Amino acid sequence: MSKDLYQDAHQPALAAYLEGLIPPRPPVLQEMEAYAQRTRFPIVGPAVGQLFYLLTRLGRARRVFELGSGYGYSTAWFAMGVRDNGGGEVFHVVWDEDLSRSAREYLRRMGLAELVRFRVSEAVEELRRTDGQFDIVFSDIEKEAYPASLPVIKQHLAPGGLMLADNMFWRGRVLDPSCTDAETRGVREFTRDVFADPEFVSTIVPLRDGVLVARKR
Ligand SMILES: C[S@@+](CC[C@H](N)C(=O)[O-])C[C@H]1O[C@@H](n2cnc3c(N)ncnc32)[C@H](O)[C@@H]1O
Repeated sequence: MSKDLYQDAHQPALAAYLEGLIPPRPPVLQEMEAYAQRTRFPIVGPAVGQLFYLLTRLGRARRVFELGSGYGYSTAWFAMGVRDNGGGEVFHVVWDEDLSRSAREYLRRMGLAELVRFRVSEAVEELRRTDGQFDIVFSDIEKEAYPASLPVIKQHLAPGGLMLADNMFWRGRVLDPSCTDAETRGVREFTRDVFADPEFVSTIVPLRDGVLVARKR
């Protein structure tokens, strides 16, 4: 895998080491990784993918909602976890028709499409109108939209459910006080809100660009 695609910008050697530990992926996942490398599409990569699989298994998750899906890479890791938990459903939600179509094809080839509900939509609105609660909600939407999504995610999380979010370091920008753009401010505000919320027990796993793991009480 490319050295620069998934790397933690601050500790590249450590990031490469951690990624190198992940066992070879199924051929379709490897194809998706190669596509990301070619096109520089920001997938979560294998180390974070494996974390998602692990959390799905540990939490015995059967219902997962993903906000801001790409062409199905992170979805595939959640779907493998749900499959190995005995089945359930994973929502793949993206506003790009083409990405949704690609995801359908990749996940069909992996034998996972039956588990996945594909929605072409703005993700927070889609979650708002989706019935029931989820064991895991993972967000990878535009970063300025993170703060406003929090109450909607929280409302749809089952007690004991996990909220996950990518890019909590925003490529190091959250650490740099001179960065005050809307996306960086969005990640900072979301981080403050989650960690201040007594209903969540939260941490940021410093894999790649930082992954929030927050358990709702
Ligand atoms: C970073 S990519 C997701 C990558 C994915 N997590 C993976 O690892 O395979 C985010 C995608 O979500 C889409 N997106 C961003 N904000 C969105 C929103 N509010 N609603 C729906 N899609 C959104 C973007 O267009 C992009 O295709």
